[in-house]
Amino acid sequence: MARKRFVVGNWKMYIQSEEEATKFAVTLRRKARSIPGVDVFLAPPFTLLPAVAKVLESAPIEVGAQTISAFTESKHTGDISGAMLKNFGASFVIIGHSERRAQGETDMLVREEILRASEAGLAPILCIGEREREEGGGHFTRIQEQLSSALMNLPPKAAKKLIVAYEPVWAIGKSAADALQAEDLEEMVIFIKKNLAEILDRKTALKIPILYGGSVEAENASELITKSGVSGFLVGHASTNIDSFLSIIQSCKK
Ligand code: 13P
Repeated sequence: MARKRFVVGNWKMYIQSEEEATKFAVTLRRKARSIPGVDVFLAPPFTLLPAVAKVLESAPIEVGAQTISAFTESKHTGDISGAMLKNFGASFVIIGHSERRAQGETDMLVREEILRASEAGLAPILCIGEREREEGGGHFTRIQEQLSSALMNLPPKAAKKLIVAYEPVWAIGKSAADALQAEDLEEMVIFIKKNLAEILDRKTALKIPILYGGSVEAENASELITKSGVSGFLVGHASTNIDSFLSIIQSCKK
């Protein structure tokens, strides 16, 4: 059976107004109907989640958040819990994005966030990625460490909905020419799959979709999806332009 493909838009703080967000969601709802076989996810900032979720309520498009609180108890100023996200209409959450790790989010917090997402019934999209490529392959060790600290002894329920997004930090926020090449991505996808099979059980690991993020644009999406073995993309800047986003989704159609 053909494996499903996924395109996840991470708006970061690119889109900030409700008017722009709603307009985007209305167009996406209309146009994405004609693209079967690709699961489309959209992660607006917290403040725009309710408006976007409302527009996409009956559309085959998942809406989710860019992070989640690692805690459930009340005394956490500024945090948003899994239950609150669920109330907003979220079905997934991006966890451990490098831009959050850069602000001090530790491997330990990332693991807690995965557990909180699972408890709330949200699908966790775990982001991993090295800050730089190292001669001698040191970056593989960093990927291995990020995977095992986040996922070792994970309850089976949490592993079931898990998606892993490999985002090399050095490739984020640039242009298609600066993205990882398909052959290097293929090598990393094999490495991640092998590690997942060792950390979790093999059967569960085989079902976990592995996405790529880092300057995916309309120009490089086809090449990356056909030549690297990834199940789809986590898209930043190109997910905020409706034409680019739709073109990337089209590239993932089988
Ligand atoms: P860009 O697509 O802007 O490089 O961002 C990738 C990313 O960080 C998605 O989470």
